[in-house]
Amino acid sequence: MEKKKIDIFDTTLRDGEQGPGCVLTLESKLNIAEKLDLMGIDIIEAGFPISSPGDFKAVQEVSRIIKNAKVCALARARELDINTATEALKHAKSSRIQLGIGSSDIHIKHKFNTNREEILRVAHDMVKYASKKVEEVQFFAEDAGRADNNFLAKMVETVITAGAKVVNLPDTNGFCTPFEYYEKIKFIIDNVPNVHKAKISVHCHNDLGMATANTIAGLLAGADQAEGTINGVGERAGNTALEELIVTLLIKDLPISTNVNPTYIGELSQMVEKAMSNPVQSNKAIVGKNAFAHSSGIHQDGVLKNRKNYEIIDPAMIGLELPDLILTSRSGRAALKNRLVALNLSFAEKDFEQYYERFLKIADTKSIIDEKDLVHLYKSL
Ligand code: KIV
Ligand code: ZN
Repeated sequence: MEKKKIDIFDTTLRDGEQGPGCVLTLESKLNIAEKLDLMGIDIIEAGFPISSPGDFKAVQEVSRIIKNAKVCALARARELDINTATEALKHAKSSRIQLGIGSSDIHIKHKFNTNREEILRVAHDMVKYASKKVEEVQFFAEDAGRADNNFLAKMVETVITAGAKVVNLPDTNGFCTPFEYYEKIKFIIDNVPNVHKAKISVHCHNDLGMATANTIAGLLAGADQAEGTINGVGERAGNTALEELIVTLLIKDLPISTNVNPTYIGELSQMVEKAMSNPVQSNKAIVGKNAFAHSSGIHQDGVLKNRKNYEIIDPAMIGLELPDLILTSRSGRAALKNRLVALNLSFAEKDFEQYYERFLKIADTKSIIDEKDLVHLYKSL
């Protein structure tokens, strides 16, 4: 099957840092940006330069060190924002400004206190203004997830005419279901006459737990770029988790490919977790500490027979080692025997039964049995 290569846009340093309590130091931002670049991310959104001197500096410094990726800076549809972003990006080898304005009637009325015509005028004028200043302009139609599709199509056509090379249609509030988002992206691709002159980007939030599914739906509808963050960090319930997206594209037979080398995922996830002091939930897909841990006896027995029985992802794909089977009160004889063999603790079959019974008694009082417990129990038999 011929695969379409899409661009991966990482916004860990911008939208990710908007997550409550997820602040990053300049040093962490540079380390993360360097790893993202090594990993093959196409565009790194490094910050929102007008928002604070710290963000300005972060965009400036990231711009200096990034070798391959395009560095992007966020701006509102205002000249001062655009000028500040342009200045911050000055040293980037390749740069992009992402600027935008509300596209839903809720935003137009209650955030901008204006009307559709005026919003189109500002979008047009600011894209035109920015296009003369930077290499590339990406426009975001904020709250596209709740926008009227006919108006959204008009907006996309307008900003492409004004010079936007990428148009981002964010589900800012994580409101869409995958089918709705698919239909929205398809509607834009099918109804905007100049859409072929720009790339369409998808940017989804996880308020209903559908960010990754929505992103994949948007890509299947024809989008050319997907946005997200490492560990899915971001505003409120977060963004599309890039690790989920990248691994899904690798293990499913979808007509989409990326430049990303997935073996950096495990390391980057731990780096972002530590730098943000924001623990990854243990059952988080792909990078949670339990993502490859099997606990029940039935599953452990199946895994020992053949890992494929219960593992759809090889942890080596994301640069992680297979964890040992966890020993709990739900573990069966197969997992326990396997671990005892690994520890060189041998038994006659009848003694093993006695050991297993005592193991279960201890396991009922302790959530996980470790090697020390196993050795201690062996010696006490
Ligand atoms: O969610 C959103 O709408 C955004 C834009 C700034 C792209 O993060
Ligand atoms: Zn966002």
